[in-house]
Amino acid sequence: MRQGKTGTFGPNLYQVVGRIAGMAADHDYSPALAGAGFAWTPELLDRWLADPQAILPGTEIEFVLESAQQRADVIAYLIAAGKR
Ligand code: HEM
Repeated sequence: MRQGKTGTFGPNLYQVVGRIAGMAADHDYSPALAGAGFAWTPELLDRWLADPQAILPGTEIEFVLESAQQRADVIAYLIAAGKR
């Protein structure tokens, strides 16, 4: 974790599906994520949660979900919660 983060461990994920990566307000992203330049799809999120470094080498997220079922459940939750 670098200095200067704004008090959370990760960026706000509200409506992250479809959002351009690295664009949450008030989050101090790594250069890797800040320069990503793609929008998050369910497929990319699945790969991200399985192996974030494979998507963006140098990213600072230190979290992996090895279970494909758990990844699918989390992504379904993010989509559903984003509609509320
Ligand atoms: C189910 C749990 C999690 C999900 C679905 C998730 C998902 C994500 C996603 C989609 C991003 C990119 C956001 C964007 O582009 O705006 C991200 C970034 C990040 N997450 Fe996670 N995350 C999870 C758990 C965690 C945990 C437990 C931590 C830390 C304790 C964490 C720390 C971070 C950090 C620091 C970043 C920014 C990385 C960077 O700037 O390179 N995440 N996460």
